[in-house]
Amino acid sequence: MISKDLVKGLNDQMNYEFYSAHVYLATAAYCSNESFDGFASFFLTQAEEERFHAMKFYHFINDMGEKAEVASLPTPNNTFSSILETFEKSLEHEKEVTKQIYKLSDLALDQREHATMTFLNWFVEEQVEEEATFDNLIQKLKRINDDSNAFFMLEDELGKRKFTAE
Ligand code: FEO
Repeated sequence: MISKDLVKGLNDQMNYEFYSAHVYLATAAYCSNESFDGFASFFLTQAEEERFHAMKFYHFINDMGEKAEVASLPTPNNTFSSILETFEKSLEHEKEVTKQIYKLSDLALDQREHATMTFLNWFVEEQVEEEATFDNLIQKLKRINDDSNAFFMLEDELGKRKFTAE
């Protein structure tokens, strides 16, 4: 049995992960519309990953004998001015996710809720990886600047990304 505020926090995070999938779907749509199919594919994979994150919360809430409450989602940003901006906005988004995961981890820690703490540790590690990925891609894109060959090589490389449930 976990406290009501912790159940609410877990549900809020589940819904925020669904929202994250929405955010990356909107980002992919911008890339597709600009005919950057490799970048679009990369963001579609990211959206799948976010749905997987949301479902991890869904299953954990159920496993703890509580009920997952699915909420409506805000409209994500659909307007971008460049590929660089898609990655900059992604990094901003991931920093927000990290803040929320930390807040939830603090709550679980305050309540000595060990099962939830262990569950959330996976997300703490995942956020390090997510922020590093976007930060690294922003640096690469800035270095590439106007080198169109390097830009398309990066797009090609990112387009090969596949979703793996791990
Ligand atoms: Fe599920 Fe990208 O955080």
